[in-house]
Amino acid sequence: MIPGFGNHVSTEAVAGALPVGRNSPQRPAFGLYAEQLSGTAFTAPRSENRRSWLYRLRPSAMHPAFTPYPGARLLRTGPFDEVPPSPNRLRWDPLPLPEVPTDFVDGLVSYAGNGDPAAGTGIGIHLYAANAPMTGRVFYSADGELLIVPQAGRLTLMTEMGVLDLAPGMIGVVPRGVRFRAALPDGTARGYVCENYGALFRLPDLGPIGANGLANPRDFETPPAWFEDVDQPTEVIQKFMGGLWSARLDHSPLDVVAWHGNLAPYRYDLARFNTINTVSFDHPDPSIFTVLTAPSDTAGTANCDFVIFPPRWMVAEDTFRPPWFHRNVMSEFMGLVTGSYDAKEGGFAPGGASLHNCMSAHGPDAASWDKATHAELAPARIDNTLAFMFESRGVIRPTRWAMDSALLQTDYDGCWTGFPKARLG
Ligand SMILES: [Fe+2]
Repeated sequence: MIPGFGNHVSTEAVAGALPVGRNSPQRPAFGLYAEQLSGTAFTAPRSENRRSWLYRLRPSAMHPAFTPYPGARLLRTGPFDEVPPSPNRLRWDPLPLPEVPTDFVDGLVSYAGNGDPAAGTGIGIHLYAANAPMTGRVFYSADGELLIVPQAGRLTLMTEMGVLDLAPGMIGVVPRGVRFRAALPDGTARGYVCENYGALFRLPDLGPIGANGLANPRDFETPPAWFEDVDQPTEVIQKFMGGLWSARLDHSPLDVVAWHGNLAPYRYDLARFNTINTVSFDHPDPSIFTVLTAPSDTAGTANCDFVIFPPRWMVAEDTFRPPWFHRNVMSEFMGLVTGSYDAKEGGFAPGGASLHNCMSAHGPDAASWDKATHAELAPARIDNTLAFMFESRGVIRPTRWAMDSALLQTDYDGCWTGFPKARLG
């Protein structure tokens, strides 16, 4: 793997395949086809410009017409207007594994989202539950980049630009348009996906934290060039403006022999996150736990922040240590990879999810509040936990499936009952 975030990488699976000193020579080596993949507008500022040049056995353009694909029936896309957005706090039990053979694509279930890929803003939030590898087919989203958060079971993503091995505790990002096939080394897999319709995920600015900390650039890993030379029928499934479309090739399109550029899949081990928190008092805003941010056009107001709540020490003095009660203009969708979350005593299980939308009051449940209010404040380590949040400036609108699902907990409000009234005097 090649270390570094957003680096300009040069990689070739066959010596001599990568042109030197130019992108599009008259005759690339071995008769390869040169092709540019643009992740930002040609004219995006240099600091934000992301593109790569791919050198492949056949041009991507060599495909027949796409026709509607009937699978992945629970996959949805913005605008999320199937049902009126609920002002209620929502929480779901874990998504069960499928009972019939289901691969990564057909196992995608959309819970919520906002914005619209046609406008280049918003996110789609999906879970996947799969028990079969993708065979004879590849997938890509033309609607957004895919931030994948495995929760159970490893995923191997064979992408056009290299192989990403992912395990729970890691994340992987596949750029918009990059085709991949998902294999399941453990036989089954479950996890979360944020499909980002907006500006690409990047590392957050660090301000007074300085030049180091949080997710450090060197810990992100990009795969080296890898390809398969397979002349077998392969189905390409694409997601375009929410529709799913299929085309049949007589070859695998995972045939990029070499590439260079700064638009590529990458992975990151969340255990490498340098967690920063108070060493005096008060719980900082959870933005201190931001791993990646996808900015909007408004400064400091993200289309999506990816935030984690990792194992860490709690040392704050005279402080209510769990996440506090609050109402937020931003909307928060949470998932849990493992363990338990320090603001909830129960009901939020690994593989589950919760949604606290714009201005909905939330925070610790009564049991967590009681425990934290009476705890002796010695240094304490929160261990065996990994929760995360997709936080967005846009109201997160649940899908009809999410609102009708038997996984939706009917008693979630109950965890905020039973708080004793404050006594004056
Ligand atoms: Fe919150």
